[in-house]
Parts: sequence; C-alpha cells; structure tokens
Amino acid sequence: MKRLLSIGLSLLLTSPVWADEGMWLLPLLKQQKFPEMQALGLKLQDYDIYSPDSASIKDAVVIFGGGCTGEVVSPDGLVLTNHHCGYGQIQQHSSVEHDYLTDGFWAMTRAEELPNPGLKVTFIDKIEDVTEYVLEELKKDTDPNSMNYLSPAYLNGLAVEKTGEKYLQDHPGTEVEIKAFYGGNKYYMFTKKIYPDVRLVGAPPSSIGKFGADTDNWMWPRHAGDFTVFRIYADVNGNPAEYSESNVPLRPKRWLKISLKGVQENDFAMMMGFPGRTNKYYTSWEVAERRDIDNTVRINVREIRQQVMLEEMLKDPVVRIQYFSKYAGSTNAYKNSIGSNWAINKRNFEEVKREEQDKLLVWAARMNKPEYKEALSVLEQIVKDRKDLRFRSWMLDEAISRGIEFTRVPSSVEGLSTAIRQKDTETRKNELERLKNGYERFADKDYSPVVDAKVAKVLLKEYRRLIPADKQPAYFSTIDKQFKGDVDAFVDHLFKSSIFGSEDNFRKFYQHPSVKGLENDPMILFAQAVQQEKQALADALKDFDAAYANAHRTYVRGLLEMYGDQANFPDANFSLRLTYGQVKGYAPRDAVYYDCQTTLEGVMEKEDPDNWEFVVPERLKELYQAKDYGQYGLGNGRMPVNFCATTHSTGGNSGSPVLNANGELIGINFDRNWEGVGGDIQYLPDYQRSIIVDIRYVLFIIDKYAGAGYLLNEMDLMDQ
Ligand code: ARG
Ligand code: GLU
Repeated sequence: MKRLLSIGLSLLLTSPVWADEGMWLLPLLKQQKFPEMQALGLKLQDYDIYSPDSASIKDAVVIFGGGCTGEVVSPDGLVLTNHHCGYGQIQQHSSVEHDYLTDGFWAMTRAEELPNPGLKVTFIDKIEDVTEYVLEELKKDTDPNSMNYLSPAYLNGLAVEKTGEKYLQDHPGTEVEIKAFYGGNKYYMFTKKIYPDVRLVGAPPSSIGKFGADTDNWMWPRHAGDFTVFRIYADVNGNPAEYSESNVPLRPKRWLKISLKGVQENDFAMMMGFPGRTNKYYTSWEVAERRDIDNTVRINVREIRQQVMLEEMLKDPVVRIQYFSKYAGSTNAYKNSIGSNWAINKRNFEEVKREEQDKLLVWAARMNKPEYKEALSVLEQIVKDRKDLRFRSWMLDEAISRGIEFTRVPSSVEGLSTAIRQKDTETRKNELERLKNGYERFADKDYSPVVDAKVAKVLLKEYRRLIPADKQPAYFSTIDKQFKGDVDAFVDHLFKSSIFGSEDNFRKFYQHPSVKGLENDPMILFAQAVQQEKQALADALKDFDAAYANAHRTYVRGLLEMYGDQANFPDANFSLRLTYGQVKGYAPRDAVYYDCQTTLEGVMEKEDPDNWEFVVPERLKELYQAKDYGQYGLGNGRMPVNFCATTHSTGGNSGSPVLNANGELIGINFDRNWEGVGGDIQYLPDYQRSIIVDIRYVLFIIDKYAGAGYLLNEMDLMDQ
C-alpha cells in the first residue's frame, strides 16, 4: 500500500527535465531514456550503443589526453579530436623551420607520424554500479566530518581493493577508478585501458583549425575546422605500451562509421563523451553566489588584465606570440562567465531552483522527512557565512595568483640559504642549479617582464581597492609603509631588486649567491605571502566544505526520492555520458533566427587578411573558387563547415563524436554558444547549442586541402 502511494505521488511530481536535457550514464540509458531516443528518430538498439558484454559504440569513444574526448574512426587506430585539444602537441613539434601551427602538418606515411611523450588515450572497458560496496565500506569510517565519500584517493583505493592488485599486474595499462555521482549517493567503477603511444597524423593550419579565434570563440554562427588526427599504437599483442619503434597501430574493438549524408534541421543527433563539471543541483542561494562572487570577480578582473595584455600584444609582434595562448585561455573562461551570468539573470535561474527547493519542502513535509528541510537551511546558512571568505579567495585567485605571473617564481629557497650558510658546497651547487632551472621554467620564452609588471600594477590596484588592508597578504603592507601606497613604485621596485626581476639580476645572483640576497628578495617575499594567504583562506573555507558536501548530498538524495531516481541525471564529473537531441538553429534575439548549418560562404564573408583571426589560407580560397568540393559538398554549390544541435554538452565534450540515428559519425563537437553556457546550471532548450564541425568539412580538408586522402582509405565512409 505504502509503495503504491509513493508511486502515485511520484507520478504527480514529474521531474522538470526538458526533452533534450541530460548527460546520461550508459548503464542507466536503457531504462531512463531509450524509448524517448527512439521516438526522436534513433534507429539503433540500446546494446548497439552500450553493451556490458560485447563491443558497442561506447568502445570507440576515448578520453583524449587529460580533458578532452576523442573517437576511433578506423580499424588501424585512427583517432579524431579537436585542434584545440591537440594544440599542445602540434605546438611541441613546431619550430621556425616547421611551423605546424601556422602551416598544418600531414604525415604522408605511417613512418612520418610523430610520437608525443606524455599523451595518453583512455578506453572505458567496463562500467559497474558499486554503490552497495562503497556504502558498506564507508560504514567503517567513524569520523563524522570525514569526506571520504567524495575523496578520489579513498574511492580509488577501494577500486583497487575490489579489483585486486594481481588483476591489475596481469593487465598492463589497466586502471580502475570509482567516481561519486549525485553528490555521493551513487558510485560507479570504471575499468580503463590506457594507451601511452599516440602519434600525430595530421592537423590543419590554425587559420582553419582555429578560424575566428577569440572573437568567434563561444559564438554561433561559427566557421572553424577544429579537428586533429592522431593514431593509437600498441605492442604486437595489442596491449598498451610506451612508445617504441616496434609498436604497431592498435586494432581497436570498435571504430565509428562515417556518414557522408550530412544533416538536416530536426535530424536526431547524439553525442558521447566526457563532460567535466556541471552544477544542476545548485540551490537558489548557490546560483546567486556563483553570479555575485565567482562570475563577477572573474569578469571584472580578467577584463582589466586582458585589456593590458591586448594593448601590449598589439604594440609588439613578439609579445603577441608570447601572450597569444595565455590571452586565449583567459578570455575563454571570461566569456563563459559572461554567458553564465546572462543566463542566470535573463532566464531566472534563482527562481527555477527556488521552485525545485520549494517542491521538495512541500513533499518532505508531507512524507515526514525533516532532514531535507534541514539540509536546505544548512546550505542557505553556509552560503551566507562563507560570503566574505569566498570573495577574498576568488579575488586572490583571479587578481593575484592567476593574474600576476611573478607569484609563480621559485620561492622555496631555504635549502639554498642553509647550504650557503653552512658552506656546504655540494648542496649549494645542486640547490643553485635547481633554482636556475626553476627560474628558467618561470621566465620561459613566453614570459615578458614588461607585460607582467604592467598587469601587476593594474591588478594590485584593483585588489587593494576591493579588499580591506587587514585582509590582504601580510607583505602587501610594504606598499603603504615603504611606498606611501604607490603601487607602481612598489612593482618597479620588485623588478629592479628581485633576483627574478630580470635575466641580468639573476645572472648576478647566480655568480655570487648570498643568503641576504635571498632572504630579503621582494618577489620571493611577495610569492610566499600570497601562498600563505591562499592556504589560510583554504583552511578557513575547509570548515564549510564538510558541512556543505553533506547537506548537498542530502538535498540531492531528497530530489532523487521525490522524483524517483530514474528521472534525473547526475552532474557531470568527467565520466562517460551520452546526450541526445536534434540538429536545430535558434532565435537569439527578437526577429533573428540562426540557421543550424554554416558553409564556406561564411568563411569567405568573415575573411580579413589584416586580422590574424580571420585570415583564409590561399589553398582554401582556390578550392572555394573552383567549387572543388567533391563528394563532401552540399550539392547546391556550397561546402558545409559547422552545424549546431540541442545536445546538452559542456567543457570536456570537446572532441566528442556526434552521431546520427544510425550511429554514424556526422561531426566533432568543439564548442557551445555563449547563450547556452548557463546550461551548466540549468539546461536552456531554446538557447543551448553544441557547436560541431561537420564531418564532411573534416574529410574535405584532409582530402582536398591537405592531399592526405589516403587516410580516408582506412575509414568506413557511408554514402547511403
Ligand atoms: N570555447 C571552447 C572550449 O571551451 C574552445 C576553447 C579554445 N579556443 C579558444 N579560442 N580559446 O574549450
Ligand atoms: N570547448 C569546450 C571543451 O574544450 C567545449 C565547450 C563547452 O563548454 O561546451 O570541452
């Protein structure tokens, strides 16, 4: 009877999940979403996508490096991902003579494929629900403030225990991981196979791969060929092995077929990949906190920093190259925060989350479950109580630690001081070398003291404007005491007198190292003071963390109980997920509609030879003029470039395969529109779009532009 009652109630309370919302876990897909996917046009069976006991599409989807997704597209281990995911590797192989970033790179034989030490590709072999096991183990933990239930170190320890050391030794390259879901209400174990020999096969020039650069980043309509081609190698038995000449291309369990048919508006589309982090289960108070502290601080501080960087970059071509990547990294998260705040305000996220909370309160009262009301008031109180600390911590992080590069000078110099004092020549020599290496790593070819000093001046002023003097790192009081509050004079002094202030200063110190020179060094004192303040803030916030995590876990459990746990997907946590929806344009503003497909016409419209972001390579223009699109064109004289879809994706989904109703590859995800980034908190059906390179553009660039069409011979191209 009680059971019937609760089923009745949960039918009344339908979860507010939008049709295309959700980053679904594969083992739950069948019960949760499969019928809806088929209704939307999917022609596959659930086991085609994910099957615990046989090869399925999921076996072709990999973690690429540390934070991107990739997909296997040939029986010889070819992998596709984004240009911005392979950027580090392309850069690493580049020099003045071979500038692969500018010119692109194409291996014309397998012998020319370039190894990338440190780069790994990870397959997910097995996914198991281990909730019962973990909860049982957690009972042994008697500390009420323990956060083991969320601790990766603890959970991975359990994973190894469950699997057995012997199994792992017998299976080289295999690793196991347990991840917490729904705030620690459920646990899944992932058995992974990690391949460390991954070679660069091909990359378009940045003028294609990164066309539109920062101006177009997070924007639709888009026109970038954001892809790179790699190949996975294994030992002769197909096992993971470090780079060796004797390694051979991996024969994967599964590779994706590639569709030449293209996409139409409203076509079914699905994406698999590794979304990194979302906050769907925020309460209204956390939404406001995110807007008023996290996002606001980031937007304000980065605006100030980027303006100085840009001025310097425009003045000096050397600085432009040096700061290109740092600037891009800075604007990426900056634009995201702007989109996030836009969505929070315009789409009333506080209200949306408050409605959900209120629903839970009513339900909990009726079901006599006071713990959920309690959890909500704890969350409300914590957000209030940590306000000041959180603001200080975000300001310190954005304006000082991330913003000012010299906060990262090598500042642990005690070993060297001691060695000098004790006249221990051997240690002194080693420590001095260590310091020199540290300095060279800090002041690398992309570091400009001139830019750093200019940035430091504006950021320190902003920091001091917003943070009371007694809440700043202790050493900052020098600015008032010795420099009468003159920040510029203070910064100039740092560069003039620190051993890290210039190459000249460091050389002098290196020749005559002295304890005095180290102990009074103003940049070292500055960096140490910042680190201490950072630690102090983290310690102070730690008190809130345990209570917060516990209340959050309880709140999410309440929602799962209220809606029934089939209805909701867990927040992203860089585990393998599937999201589906439709190829679709959108209306960003009154009377404006954006189509879902862009073409080479748009590349030519945006062309600007005087702006590096919009230079179109000569060869591409020739192909455009000749309309030489082969089997990749649209048939109406146009060449497809990008399309967008309603799939619910986030950071980490870069490089993710986008598949049609038959499970064939139609594109590679690489971005989201800025109107849709609020979807990390609340999915926006009318606004959120994944931005995807059309696979026909990828093939066209490989074949027609680069003349590397031989690579297509190993792919399964489907033209009907
Ligand atoms: N916005 C995309 C993402 O979040 C692309 C970032 C790289 N591109 C750039 N112009 N910064 O990763
Ligand atoms: N560019 C993002 C990535 O690197 C994807 C964009 C998004 O946040 O959806 O994963």
